[in-house]
Amino acid sequence: MNTLEKIVSLCKRRGFVYPGSEIYGGLANSWDYGPYGTELKKNIKALWWQHFVQSRADIYGLDGSILLSPKVWKASGHIKRFLDPLKECLSCHKRFRTDFLDEKGIKKCPECGGKLSKEKMFNPMFKTFIGSQENKASTVYLRPETAQAIFINFKNIIDSFHPPLPFGIAQIGKSFRNEITAGNFIFRTLEFEQMEIEYFIEEKEWQKQFDYWQREMIEFAKSLGISEKKLTLREHSLKELSHYSKKTVDIEYMFPFGTKELYGLAYRTDYDLKNHSQKSGVDLRYQNPKTKENFYPHVIEPSFGLERTLLALLLDAYHKETAKEKKRVFLKFPPLVAPIKVAVFPLLANKIELIKEAKRIFADLSPHFPIAWDDNGNIGKRYRRQDEIGTPWCVTVDFDTLKDNTVTVRDRDTMKQERVKINNLLNLFKEKLENSKD
Ligand code: GAP
Repeated sequence: MNTLEKIVSLCKRRGFVYPGSEIYGGLANSWDYGPYGTELKKNIKALWWQHFVQSRADIYGLDGSILLSPKVWKASGHIKRFLDPLKECLSCHKRFRTDFLDEKGIKKCPECGGKLSKEKMFNPMFKTFIGSQENKASTVYLRPETAQAIFINFKNIIDSFHPPLPFGIAQIGKSFRNEITAGNFIFRTLEFEQMEIEYFIEEKEWQKQFDYWQREMIEFAKSLGISEKKLTLREHSLKELSHYSKKTVDIEYMFPFGTKELYGLAYRTDYDLKNHSQKSGVDLRYQNPKTKENFYPHVIEPSFGLERTLLALLLDAYHKETAKEKKRVFLKFPPLVAPIKVAVFPLLANKIELIKEAKRIFADLSPHFPIAWDDNGNIGKRYRRQDEIGTPWCVTVDFDTLKDNTVTVRDRDTMKQERVKINNLLNLFKEKLENSKD
């Protein structure tokens, strides 16, 4: 098994990520997140929000709708110009992205060897209908990016908060794309979550702001524990640029299936605000409070994919130790990211005094962090299980606990154990989590 296959298997076995609609034979490129995957995603989103919204006075949060007026997508250019180039097999009629075929030097259908068509353009927006009629007038789209809800709420934010330039609006939410060549586990899926900022600036500042946001994006990835050594920058060629972008740089990560886009940074100019202004008839210009001059702010857009972040974290965290006495697989998540922070074990599952004490500890700690309870199998097996889900610390209640109110705290990475007073546990873990931020 290669590393990705090992991770896919661990994710299913241990409750991180399950194949979508599995009992019905699956739905290609869709995944459901189990208890630990859900916690991981929650942690990544909370850390992103803390980093870019909560700790800054110049960025405003938003939670816009998935369904927007179809006029939005017309004005933004997505209906006409958000297109993926593809080729279709003339025998089996399967479709493939041209960049996927080119990258692999494939000239014939990868499925049946049939002849491929000339390049065609395909719009990956999912369509659905509002109301009981299914026709052109009732057609709406599932958003392919969260950004547009930000542009159409630009005036609302200005009117409510009167922010001076530069300022940003941030949003986390699902986006949908009918991807032709999806795959590589959760790397490219049909629905995914984006964490996006539209940062509004004066035109003359764009290069400075672009460079600043490029550094910020890398800093954020590092702060999560993504390995800086695996990150590279790649600027889009003119041909590759999205219809709204004047310059795009991908922050790429060395995935096992190739070095590919983790995040994207784009200079969207005043393209979106100008188009929405013209098409809606609502003035979306910003007024300079001193000179009273009205103008369209320009936009720098840092865009982060949640699932790709999760995949990079899983890949960086995956460790295997082969030495005889400590043979194990463990996920070395940074404690802030780890889905479970502490696991609590009673040494024996049938000793009521031990269980009572362990339950008390569970109840004390669980309002503060996600805690696991495990009384199944011997302690060695429980450690291995927690190692595999990346729990940084395990607490064992044993017979000495009943005499001296101490427990064993075992560290995931060093496997070292220490005795700690029960009353000190909460502060100890709070401190450890705080220290792990540095
Ligand atoms: N608003 C700009 C925008 O949507 P993008 O480069 O198309 O730009 C931004 O997408 C990020 O969203 C990507 O860097 C990636 O992390 C994530 N992403 C895009 N398509 C995806 C897909 N099909 N599956 C998973 N993540 C995806």
